[in-house]
Amino acid sequence: MDAVTIRSKIFQVLIGPQLAAMLYASLELELPELLLTPKSIEFLSEKTQTLSEKLERILFALESFGFFSYNSVSKEWSNSQLSSALLDESLNSIAKYCIMPYKYEVLCNFSESLKQEKSAHEIRFGCSYIEGLKRNQDAFEIYQKAMAGWTNYDGKDKIDIDLNDSSRVLDVGGGDGTLLIDLANAHPHITGTVFDIPESQPLIDANIEKYELSERLDSIGGNFFESLPEEYDCILIKNTLIDWSDRDCKRILNNCRKALEEGDQLKWIDCVIDRQDQTDLWGVILDMNMMASGNGRVRTKEQMEKLLHESGFRFDSISPSTKKRNASVTSLAPSAKHCVINAIAI
Ligand SMILES: C[S@@+](CC[C@H](N)C(=O)[O-])C[C@H]1O[C@@H](n2cnc3c(N)ncnc32)[C@H](O)[C@@H]1O
Repeated sequence: MDAVTIRSKIFQVLIGPQLAAMLYASLELELPELLLTPKSIEFLSEKTQTLSEKLERILFALESFGFFSYNSVSKEWSNSQLSSALLDESLNSIAKYCIMPYKYEVLCNFSESLKQEKSAHEIRFGCSYIEGLKRNQDAFEIYQKAMAGWTNYDGKDKIDIDLNDSSRVLDVGGGDGTLLIDLANAHPHITGTVFDIPESQPLIDANIEKYELSERLDSIGGNFFESLPEEYDCILIKNTLIDWSDRDCKRILNNCRKALEEGDQLKWIDCVIDRQDQTDLWGVILDMNMMASGNGRVRTKEQMEKLLHESGFRFDSISPSTKKRNASVTSLAPSAKHCVINAIAI
């Protein structure tokens, strides 16, 4: 690489936080939605209650990076291809979650967190990530929508989970219920329950009702560190164990084991990292994210097998969680491996 390319690569990284802050402001002001048809800056500033001079400066800055487009003849703003893409509800919620100010507050403590056991989040807010989000309603709503966004992003047939041998399914840490609702629609023979913190229950119940699945699905609010409901023959746990340390994962997995009978199934759905694979940029960014927000981590297949073994499960098989895989979620992720790890209670 020549000196100019090296400097340019470094600057691409350095401008990241500013660009993300500008983009977040545009999403908060709902500019992609307002620009479904071309608008003048006067209209936009009145609608968003912002100062027109500052708003136009931000728009010009974002335009330089491909977001929004100015027509100098009509003197109107409209969406570009990139800002139009943010009209997609799933991508919009994922974008907001990745760059919300709450995240920056955490990341400001990243260096300090390298010197102690506490995560950057604990140093900043004095509690676990989920507790912190629960105390901040705006951040919590963005978080819940983004979790559903990841599940929805590739369309309803995205998740590829075999439930042919199951009839009563418990989705542990099931978020707003999106996964179990999708699976119930795809597998008419199953009934099931979404288990999550009590604060998530109204959202889950509203979604179950929206999809007219109240006769087959319900929700239970609780704490997976205390106990899990019984009488299910299959437990799903998606994008949740990644949030926790090995010690905490074992506590959750032990509770999963207690809730199941011998021979029942556990399907652990998460990103799996191959430490030798230098191209897995999404895997490493996710791992850093987990390190900042708690004591979670992205694990290798071997680390997952070990945790399963220590919690009363036998590793059975591993397969990609989708037929398409999430290359489309981010170009950072062509090789990120989101998998279903099938295990049997022993
Ligand atoms: C990263 S989200 C994953 C949500 C969902 N499974 C998905 O894939 O979109 C983790 C979920 O665990 C839930 N959770 C966190 N701590 C919990 C606890 N102690 N007991 C029950 N659920 C918890 C959160 O509310 C959240 O919905």
